[in-house]
Amino acid sequence: MSLINRKLEHVEICLYEDVEEIVSTLLEDVVLIHQAIPGISVKDIDTRTSFLKKQISMPLMVTGMTGGHQELGKINSTIAEVVEEMGLAMGVGSQRVGIEKPETAESFRVTRKMAPTAPLVANLGLPQVVKGYGIKHFKDAVQMIEADAIAVHLNPAQELFQPEGEPDYPVSALGTLRDISKELGVPVIIKESGTGISMETAKILFDYGFSIIDVSGQGGTSWIAVEAVRNRRKGNWKYNSSKLFSGWGIPTGASLIETRYAVPDAFLIASGGIRTGLDVAKSIALGANIAGMANPVLHRATQGKAQLRKFFEEVHFELKSAMFLTGSKDISALRRAPLVIWGRLREWVESRGLTLSTYENIRKRA
Ligand SMILES: Cc1cc2nc3c(=O)[nH]c(=O)nc-3n(C[C@H](O)[C@H](O)[C@H](O)COP(=O)(O)O)c2cc1C
Repeated sequence: MSLINRKLEHVEICLYEDVEEIVSTLLEDVVLIHQAIPGISVKDIDTRTSFLKKQISMPLMVTGMTGGHQELGKINSTIAEVVEEMGLAMGVGSQRVGIEKPETAESFRVTRKMAPTAPLVANLGLPQVVKGYGIKHFKDAVQMIEADAIAVHLNPAQELFQPEGEPDYPVSALGTLRDISKELGVPVIIKESGTGISMETAKILFDYGFSIIDVSGQGGTSWIAVEAVRNRRKGNWKYNSSKLFSGWGIPTGASLIETRYAVPDAFLIASGGIRTGLDVAKSIALGANIAGMANPVLHRATQGKAQLRKFFEEVHFELKSAMFLTGSKDISALRRAPLVIWGRLREWVESRGLTLSTYENIRKRA
């Protein structure tokens, strides 16, 4: 199957098959503490924050999804237009196809056209670095959308279960990427793609000098489940195994705590199963700098600009509601809001040998 058709199939599967929320993000085990006297007025709440040296209206980005075909360009265009209008940030999907088939590059370029001032994030994968992508490819990807940063995705699970995947993940690729990043002129974000970053991985990333991390944990779109659908359709022998591993990964809540614990000074993006403004608020309180959403945005974007706008308005209201009821007048106050971690998330943290009181100090400092 060609790369372009695969991109189309991925979007179709994410829209119409059951590939989300196979396991929980564990964010239900985070309780923001209600304050009966919030001490602030809703109208004074400030949800703005900064990302990639630009101001955004709330701590939310649309994480990288698509591009590589005219139809996918339309989705990118819709998202970019609403992102610009609402003061958010956006990433595009892997630009390998745009680089290897330049006739598809317009489906990525359209994002900068529609979002002239928004923080935009280019996208390539670590597997491309393993296969020899160098500074020229990275510069091409950045220039294609005049990006403010480039996200390099980690997807070992997807590569493993994909019918045509090539699971090869040497740590040395990070050394190559570090050399590329020194010449690139924009920051490199390391992002998972739905199976989460552990504290061990976070430490390796930090040791290689990468300090902007999108944890993209389990609980949202499962790329193993997406590939399971493709294996089923193709009658591929990996079907049963990919089904078995569909819930594999680190839940987003746990991944966020692990990563913040391991690298207290990193800039963290919480994504993977972020579905509401309350999820955004919990992520920020738990230690993220901003949150990210992919699949829910794709669904609304295909319904049109008005639906997408309405969705972001709802998310904004929910975030503001959580801020009001915790007495947090701005994002830095939300980061210090009192919370309880209980249930399975608490067990996770304790079984990983992390102490909640130490974490409490780390998250409030971050
Ligand atoms: C249709 C679709 C395509 C995606 N393609 C990419 C990609 O090319 N590069 C990437 O880094 N992540 C990609 N992702 C992963 C998302 O950025 C995100 O990490 C993941 O879907 C979890 O977030 P969610 O639960 O909000 O969907 C894609 C997600 C979707 C839904």
